[in-house]
Amino acid sequence: MDITIERIPEKDLRPLPDENSLGFGRYFTDHMFTMKWNEPDKWHGAAITPCRDLAISPAGMMLHYAQGIFEGLKAYYRGPDKFALFRHKDNIGRFNASARRLEMPTVHPAVFQQAMLELIKTDIRWIPRSPGSSLYIRPFMIATEPGLGVRVAKEYLFGIILSPVGAYFASGFKPSRIYVEEKMSRVPAGGLGDIKASANYAGSLPALQKAKNAGYDQVLWLDAKEHRFVEEVGAMNIFFACREKALFTPRLNGNILPGITRDSVLKLADSLGLAVIEAYFDINDIIGQIKGGEITEIFGSGTAAVIAPVGELYYQRKKYVLDNKKAGPVTEQLYDILVSMQYGKYPDLFGWVEEVKI
Ligand code: PLP
Ligand code: COI
Repeated sequence: MDITIERIPEKDLRPLPDENSLGFGRYFTDHMFTMKWNEPDKWHGAAITPCRDLAISPAGMMLHYAQGIFEGLKAYYRGPDKFALFRHKDNIGRFNASARRLEMPTVHPAVFQQAMLELIKTDIRWIPRSPGSSLYIRPFMIATEPGLGVRVAKEYLFGIILSPVGAYFASGFKPSRIYVEEKMSRVPAGGLGDIKASANYAGSLPALQKAKNAGYDQVLWLDAKEHRFVEEVGAMNIFFACREKALFTPRLNGNILPGITRDSVLKLADSLGLAVIEAYFDINDIIGQIKGGEITEIFGSGTAAVIAPVGELYYQRKKYVLDNKKAGPVTEQLYDILVSMQYGKYPDLFGWVEEVKI
């Protein structure tokens, strides 16, 4: 694929943000990638341009009917002319699964990869170097065709933007506090729960706001039918560790996002000799096991959040505190190995890391 590159002159490049206060998704790099799709032309107009506002018709269909998807992955610093990606082919595969579910065109994996690598190379100076920081990659696709009838759009925009990031949660690796939502649901059965559809996140906001107002960081969602079985957290999959012996996580039931970090954690835990169990977990049993001391650690997993310890659950007006609010040994070990692999400081046991030189 030919990509037109409109580079910002050196003298006009923006100063880099302070690496110690990046936060998550607050800064964007100098350039972006875009291309367009319509019925006769398919994908065309691939371009790297200065990162600027998009021009979309006010009748653009994504704006009204939420035909939009996205992905999230990271590039890790390896030197001034090198970076590493983690399981990026899985993100590309999941993006296309999301596209198919919403009747959107797919992007050929080779084209997707080329676009992403070219953009990162163009903005390589933005990859932060401080421990725990990385360059977050956000590919997305939106329906741009103007029209108010509800139907599959015939015009789309695919884009990639980049954002240097630190920790997702302001608390960093300090355990977060999670509010178990009892009434609202993230997704219905047969809905969009197992894809990265923008609409899923909009629907989760009232519960997130309620949790924040009560002093909590995130929501733990239960199944939509019985409000009983644990599914996932707003931007992470969830794990429960029983001492240093077993690790549980809800099995993929079509409503949970098949997290790439989740899959990595499962494979890593298995290789470390932990018994790994994917099953349906009733929140009441989980609470019972926290009270009984069988569950000793809880953590979430995700690209943005990495591995995030959970120190407290709030359920039916009661608080359940874990492990004196410290990250436990299983959480810490999995975090250390995964992050060390991503930063090239631990053997890449599963062939997950790809180093790219410019
Ligand atoms: N669940 C939800 C709802 C998410 O948004 C994410 C983030 O991508 C995850 C789980 C974790 O997925 P992954 O590990 O692939 O980033
Ligand atoms: C990610 O972890 O990459 C995500 O997409 C989560 C996001 C909603 C912040």
